[in-house]
Amino acid sequence: MPEFHFYEPSKGHDLAHDPFKAIVAPRPIGWISTRDVNGRPNLAPYSFFNAVADRPPMVMFSSGGWKDTVSNVSATGEFVCNLVTRALAEKMNLTSAALPHGMNEFEFAGLAAAPSRVVKPPRVADAPAALECRLVQIVRLHTAEGAVLDHHLTIGEVVGVHIDRAYLKDGRFDLLATHPIQRAGYVADYTEAAIGFQMSRPK
Ligand SMILES: Cc1cc2nc3c(=O)[nH]c(=O)nc-3n(C[C@H](O)[C@H](O)[C@H](O)COP(=O)(O)O)c2cc1C
Repeated sequence: MPEFHFYEPSKGHDLAHDPFKAIVAPRPIGWISTRDVNGRPNLAPYSFFNAVADRPPMVMFSSGGWKDTVSNVSATGEFVCNLVTRALAEKMNLTSAALPHGMNEFEFAGLAAAPSRVVKPPRVADAPAALECRLVQIVRLHTAEGAVLDHHLTIGEVVGVHIDRAYLKDGRFDLLATHPIQRAGYVADYTEAAIGFQMSRPK
């Protein structure tokens, strides 16, 4: 029998580093572009990010604090999720800098912006895929005991999908060919998805 370390998060973990985000990992990164009410673009990575429905497609991201991204989505009802690849990793990281409100992370990180089709926020031109989204709901999280938290779960419906045709093969998006990266265990850890395999669902 292996021996397990057990802890209850509300009482502390007794480890040098909090393992929670190393267990729920790797996580896809939603690199989220928005515009503020004055039309100024904003771009930031969110790894509390995932797909939550497929018909219609929906995604969510969670903001720890009322950051510019959720504030812009709340005000404008629109955002775009850009796929992060290994080639874009360092620039993605730059866009996580705490810049003053209204400062353009596209320019700060040296990223080209391309227009979206259905929503107003631009997408990252070099991202091989991007999802244009309309806001469905912002849910303020609370604990199991009902204590209200400063965490804001933002759910969007995907209303437009961009795919770089270079990664379309036989009608499928060749995700691994883009070298997508994910957030992994601790604060500086990432993975690059490289190995895929197939398995059919039981009948
Ligand atoms: C890979 C990565 C993932 C991140 N994920 C999140 C997240 O899920 N939630 C969050 O609140 N901040 C996250 N951050 C931090 C934000 O990107 C950072 O606070 C950023 O300045 C927010 O920008 P904004 O104020 O323009 O929205 C992440 C940072 C990195 C580098």
